[in-house]
Amino acid sequence: MNTKGNPVRGRINAYFFKIMEGYMHRKYGKTKKDLFDSLPEVVVELGPGVGPNLRYYKKGTKLIAIEPNPHMHVLLRRNAEYYGIELDLRVSGAEVLDLPDSSVEAIVCTLVLCTVNDPLKTLSEIKRVLKPGGVFAFLEHVAAEEKSALAFLQKKIHRFWHWFFEGCNLNRDTAKTLEEAGFRTLVLDKYSMNTIFLPIVPHISGKAFR
Ligand SMILES: C[S@@+](CC[C@H](N)C(=O)[O-])C[C@H]1O[C@@H](n2cnc3c(N)ncnc32)[C@H](O)[C@@H]1O
Repeated sequence: MNTKGNPVRGRINAYFFKIMEGYMHRKYGKTKKDLFDSLPEVVVELGPGVGPNLRYYKKGTKLIAIEPNPHMHVLLRRNAEYYGIELDLRVSGAEVLDLPDSSVEAIVCTLVLCTVNDPLKTLSEIKRVLKPGGVFAFLEHVAAEEKSALAFLQKKIHRFWHWFFEGCNLNRDTAKTLEEAGFRTLVLDKYSMNTIFLPIVPHISGKAFR
């Protein structure tokens, strides 16, 4: 079993993300509604945390949730019950998915490719598990433009951030990694937004099709 999560920081993070749910809904809600608009009845979500995305899924959705941090699980289960989501919770990492080849129509993740150990391997697993034509919908924070004030800030606080948010990297060029992963089609949007969490600007969101 591949679990993550420091007993102290893991719990603090779980409650932090729970408290931030309303804020994240205000900031990401429109993007997420567009991204998750036409998901099928069975969805795989990588790193769902405490479940801020569950409100966007159709009631009755069967969610295969790949969440290696057990400290997130209680709040995730509670959210699943509240939003009427059938939860199939699996404690593993996204780099090795215990799912057959070409078996699912949709995989989702938000703010997770910054934290997985190996983003390219994760994307290769996503491609393996998706059916031909299947969709991977994502929303991620990425490294700021080189030599910008934001890039300077990201560099300054990276060590603390990485420690506190248990492996989160502020300096990943996830758009490039998505291109390298070789999906059949990649539709990607990059944008800035006003947020109190400056270090996680800018963002990318979009869909990749196998
Ligand atoms: C920043 S939180 C984001 C949570 C949620 N997706 C959201 O949008 O708020 C990162 C999540 O990724 C999970 N995670 C970390 N490493 C992972 C891995 N290798 N595979 C899958 N999930 C992972 C963490 O446990 C955590 O729940």
